Amino acid sequence: MKAIVWTKYGSPDGLHLQEVEKPTPKDNEILVKIRATTVTAGDCEMRRLQLPLMLSFPMRLYAGLIKPTRIPILGQELAGDVTAVGPNVTSFKIGDPVFGVTGFKFGAYAEYICLKANPNETQGALALKPANLSYEEAAAVPTAGFEALHFLRQAAVQPEQKVLVFGAGGSIGTFAVQLAHTFGAEVTAVDSAPKLAMLRALGADHVIDYAQQDFTQNGETYDVIIDVVGKKGFARRLKSLNPDGRYFLANAGLSHLLRDWWTSKTSGKKVVIGSSSQSKEDLLFLKDLIEAGKIKPVIDERRFSLAQIPEAHRYAETGRKIGNIAITVGTDDGSRTRRFDSFGG
Ligand SMILES: NC(=O)c1ccc[n+]([C@@H]2O[C@H](COP(=O)([O-])OP(=O)(O)OC[C@H]3O[C@@H](n4cnc5c(N)ncnc54)[C@H](OP(=O)(O)O)[C@@H]3O)[C@@H](O)[C@H]2O)c1
Repeated sequence: MKAIVWTKYGSPDGLHLQEVEKPTPKDNEILVKIRATTVTAGDCEMRRLQLPLMLSFPMRLYAGLIKPTRIPILGQELAGDVTAVGPNVTSFKIGDPVFGVTGFKFGAYAEYICLKANPNETQGALALKPANLSYEEAAAVPTAGFEALHFLRQAAVQPEQKVLVFGAGGSIGTFAVQLAHTFGAEVTAVDSAPKLAMLRALGADHVIDYAQQDFTQNGETYDVIIDVVGKKGFARRLKSLNPDGRYFLANAGLSHLLRDWWTSKTSGKKVVIGSSSQSKEDLLFLKDLIEAGKIKPVIDERRFSLAQIPEAHRYAETGRKIGNIAITVGTDDGSRTRRFDSFGG
């Protein structure tokens, strides 16, 4: 089978299309013919190994000290069809369309992957694909959907609470805006100008172009701030939180950990860091919302094939992507994928 093999940390030049051995499922595994995968900001950070200090060393230990020898193939999200099942598998059958996430195994930048039929939370999550999504759309759901859901659940968002999403137009942000809107919150979405119309269509009540306006200077305060950007200015943004508000950080560094501790000690505000787990229950929860028409993944209009994954990584790093980058694997040309501008709001 073909796969994008990861040979070195750093630029996308370390990603190569190669012929590798097709895997065979063990007794409790299924073989999935991958029809779509994604390139996320997280994939790019992993490739560069440019992670917060507290993560980069453990990740290097896990993946390989000098080269990523223990993770030969990157990619966490996928959608595809089950083409073989191990003898102990009862939860899936050949022909089932599935979507999910591989956990720390990675390996979704390939034509086939073997996955545990009933993984634990470090081994990913897998479920039948939502009936109303293309493979490309379905592949873009799990990791960002989990993260956004995790934040909104921890915030226990109530109807009419004010939620601000900082970096709303990317993978996590587009799910966070839709979930907050679905939970009845008044949503403010902050991102660059080309993404604001899409964010309104997803349910944002207010949109702010961060190049034109600094939301910390607009006199408003919020019950919940979801920050997926995490650049400098964090202390200023914290001031826009209500006295008992919750501030969620998707990519926290050591300074944020200290700020988390200090803020919680000295005020009613709480800074929350840490990632979601990857559970089948949450995947099914997201699937139900998708099939009920309440949320849907936003896919950038630029499409890539498996061979073009290095190019997709470069594109992800331009900052121009809208929502998620989908990769079509095999013969599916993605023609059933609708763009964000067909979203009903
Ligand atoms: N995706 C996941 O599942 C996941 C899970 C855990 C943690 N994380 C971490 O969370 C972070 C965000 O992930 P993501 O996948 O949502 O990233 P993403 O898709 O790249 O989205 C980030 C968004 O922030 C916007 N942005 C950049 N600078 C901004 C600024 N100064 N003010 C407001 N908006 C700004 C970007 O727009 P412009 O480029 O147009 O400026 C983009 O729309 C990453 O560090 C990632 O590692 C991600």
